[in-house]
Formats: sequence, structure tokens, C-alpha cells
Amino acid sequence: MAKPLAAWSQKRWLFPLLVALSLSTALVFLLRAAFDSSCDRHTFVVPDMRFDSDRTAGAGTGLADWNPIGFMKSKRVLLVSHELSLSGGPLLLMELAFLLRGVGAEVCWITNQKPSGMDKVVDNLEHKMLGRGVQVLSAKGQEAVGTALKADLVVLNTAVAGKWLDAVLKENVHQVLPKVLWWIHEMRGHYFKMDYIKHLPLVAGAMIDSHVTAEYWKNRTQERLKIKMPDTYVVHLGNSKELMDVAEASVAKRVLREHVRESLGVQNDDITFGLINSVSRGKGQDLFLRAFYESLQLIQEKKLVVPSLHAVIVGSDMTAQTKFESELRDFVALKKIQNRVHFVNKTLTVAPYLAAIDVLVQNSQARGECFGRISIEAMAFQLPVLGTSAGGTTEIVVNGSTGLLHPVGKEGVTPLAKNIIKLATHVERRLTMGKKGYERVKVMFLERHMAHRIAAVLKDVLQKAKNHRHS
Ligand SMILES: *[C@@H]1O[C@H](CO)[C@@H](O)[C@H](O)[C@H]1NC(C)=O
Ligand SMILES: *[C@@H]1O[C@H](CO)[C@@H](O)[C@H](O)[C@H]1NC(C)=O
Ligand SMILES: *[C@@H]1O[C@H](CO)[C@@H](O)[C@H](O)[C@H]1NC(C)=O
Repeated sequence: MAKPLAAWSQKRWLFPLLVALSLSTALVFLLRAAFDSSCDRHTFVVPDMRFDSDRTAGAGTGLADWNPIGFMKSKRVLLVSHELSLSGGPLLLMELAFLLRGVGAEVCWITNQKPSGMDKVVDNLEHKMLGRGVQVLSAKGQEAVGTALKADLVVLNTAVAGKWLDAVLKENVHQVLPKVLWWIHEMRGHYFKMDYIKHLPLVAGAMIDSHVTAEYWKNRTQERLKIKMPDTYVVHLGNSKELMDVAEASVAKRVLREHVRESLGVQNDDITFGLINSVSRGKGQDLFLRAFYESLQLIQEKKLVVPSLHAVIVGSDMTAQTKFESELRDFVALKKIQNRVHFVNKTLTVAPYLAAIDVLVQNSQARGECFGRISIEAMAFQLPVLGTSAGGTTEIVVNGSTGLLHPVGKEGVTPLAKNIIKLATHVERRLTMGKKGYERVKVMFLERHMAHRIAAVLKDVLQKAKNHRHS
């Protein structure tokens, strides 16, 4: 088991770096600890000052250029979140809230489902929003209805947020639907319920994180519920500026790498394969460990000369005492690979681990991730990705170029084992893949790319709402 990262603070010079890191990236990390859905774990830094600093940087380069959503200035936007927590969905919507505030839009926020009583996280996040000029409203009541009626745009976040429509808007619902943009981040079966999405066909648009997920929604709504999707926009996510800053700071990266490796007991020349996701069957840590063990056996059988291989599993939660957690540890003990496999608790900081590993393994099962943001984060750190050929991963990883794909399920174990060996034996190939991944991030998975994509959607939806008003 790794020593906690806090032990680093013994080194005085390292401390300021860690503080800077944790301040800028705290939310990304917090979020990973919390988000557990089988489908998504979007991770977003809440962008403190982000647009302000962009503004300075972009001065003189033309407004539209650096801020694609400038046209939202003075627009009234209501954001409706199913819940408020440090999970992917709500934080993503918060990011949008700040983006809109950054260009002078009037932004109101509603959380449909709040825990009863005091909740520190909710309190904290609301405080953060208020600080950025986002008005936080109560989910029910006349103010909510009035705000929805007056808004230029209403963004519903996640399928479940659909419950808010009838419950609160009641007879006004049809007046609001033509200006609703529905942002969907999930694809598990239980979301395809009329209770949640019966109004979906009537909204101005749906925004979905990957083409595969959009196709799945189209199919499921039609086959299961006999309803038709509205105009659907696919918007791939992007890496936060903060993450890119760490990924591109070579000195900081090296320092982090050395220290994490030291804490794990991994030598500098060893090769580490890391899976960074909350530990659950859907994320495939069990199958990854089997593949890892198989690769060790193959290396022995074929007498391959390779550096020591290590597996790092970031995202454990032993307090949860799940059967799955014990299963993983039992497997490691049974196969006697304790010195090769390192479990790291759920953590607020993933950047150090991205700096420390050599290859990211994305082993999400079934339909995979809706998007799977850890992949683009790893690519920013110039890591190749060994991913399942499912979900958003297939839109992020270019098979053979920025990583290698393997099938989901048990069929994927041997192909993954072989891919592990390929990257362990071909150093050049591994490094080239990492560089290609980084280049891909730079051309399509940055925050500003995402902002451009969202801008196009918002423009379209506003236009439709306007046409509707005038028809
Ligand atoms: C991980 O969490 C477990 C259970 O909460 C705890 O006992 C253990 O000390 C933690 N390990 C580290 C390295 O923090
Ligand atoms: C939905 O998926 C099923 C199974 O893959 C397929 O048979 C069916 O034709 C698809 N339907 C639509 C409307 O795409
Ligand atoms: C990925 O590419 C390899 C060859 O580089 C090929 O054998 C494999 O079938 C491909 N996998 C997918 C899912 O396309």
C-alpha cells in the first residue's frame, strides 16, 4: 500500500508545489472520489479565474476568437441540476455556469434534489456559485416558475432532471420546453423511463458527450419508449486549463513522478500500467488484474527481457468493504503479485499518478464510458491508452496510433495482456503513442475546443427558441 502523498510535505521545497497543485485541481480530484456511475465520470475543474486569465491572454486577439460564447452576454439562462455534488454531472454544469458568467450572462441555478438538512458539500458549492455571481434559487415555487418563463435558455442536466419539469412548471411546461437544452451524460437502462424523459421530443435540443452514446439514446428511445429524440448535438469534453498546465510542466511532472514512484516502491526504470477510476466491476479492475497476471506469465514463458512491470489501481475505498474490493486483493494474494500491484485509495489528486505511470488502462465494461475523461487527461500527460473498444473511448483513442483497444468482457483479457507486453517491450512505440495522444488532445480535446462546440449548440438552440416565439 502506498504511503499517503501527505508524507511528501517532509520535503519543504515540494510543499508549495503541492499546494499550488491541489488548489488548482482540487475539484477535479474531489470529483473522482465521488463519482461512481457506471457510465460517466466527467471531471471538471471549476474554473476559478479561468476566463479572466484567458481574457488577459487573449487581449487584442479579437473577442470572438478567444471567447466563443461571447454572444451569450446579457442572456438569461436557467440551469437545472438533478443534484448538487462533487460528481461529474453537476460540476460540468457548474463549469458551464461560470463560462456563461464570464461573458456576462445572467445565470440562475436550481438543484432539484437536495439532501434534507445541512450538507457541507452542497453548502460549499452554492457558496462558490454565489461568489461567482450565479443566483441560486429554490427548486420549487413561483420564483422558479417565473425564472423559467423569463429565461432565454433553460439547460436541464442529466436525464433525471426531467422530473423537475412537470413537478414544478405544471401547466407552464409547454411554454418552457421550446427553449430547453437537455444535456445528457448517461446511458444505463434505467434512464429510459417515461417519468424522466417524456418531454424529451419537445425540447429544442439534446447535447450528448459522445456519438456512441447519442446513437444509443436514439435507438433506446425509439425501440423502448417509441419517442423521438429532438435535434441531438454531440459535444466531446475537453481538458481543463489547470490540468494542461501540470501536464506541460516538465519539471513538476518529473518531481511528481519520482515521488509517487518512491512512495509506491516502483523503480525509475520499471513500467507501470495504471487504472484510475473508482473501484467497481463496471470499471473492470478485476479483468485488468487478470490480464496483468497473464502478461507476467507470458513474459516468463517466453523468457522476454523486459523491465519490471507494475500495476497501479487508483480509486480503492477499503472503508466501503465491498466484496469486489476483497476479490481484487484476494486475487493479488493468491497469485503472489503483491509486490507488483499497488492499490491507492480514492484520492483528491490524480495528476501525480498520471505523472507517475507509463500507460493508462481504461477498462470500463459493458457499453463503456459515455466519454471517459481520464483518457484525454492521460493523453495530455503523453501516455498511451489501452482501452476497451466501447463507448466514448473509441472516439478518443485511435487504435494503433494513440493506444490500443481490446474487447470488453472476458474476451478482452488475453488481448489486453498482449497489448501490455507490446507496450512493455517496444519502448519507442510506447513513447510515440504517448506523443500522438498529446497531439490529439492539442487539436481537439482542450477546454477551448469544448467551448467552441458548446457555443455552436447554444447559438442553434437560442435561434430555435426565438423562431418558436415568433411563430
Ligand atoms: C486507505 O484507506 C484505508 C481505509 O480507510 C486506510 O486504512 C488506509 O490507511 C488508507 N491508506 C492510505 C495509504 O492512505
Ligand atoms: C437498435 O439496436 C438494435 C440492436 O443493436 C438493432 O437491432 C435496431 O435496429 C436498432 N434500432 C434503431 C432504431 O437503430
Ligand atoms: C486495433 O488494432 C489492432 C492492430 O493494430 C487490431 O488487431 C485490432 O483488432 C484493433 N482493434 C479494434 C477494436 O479495432
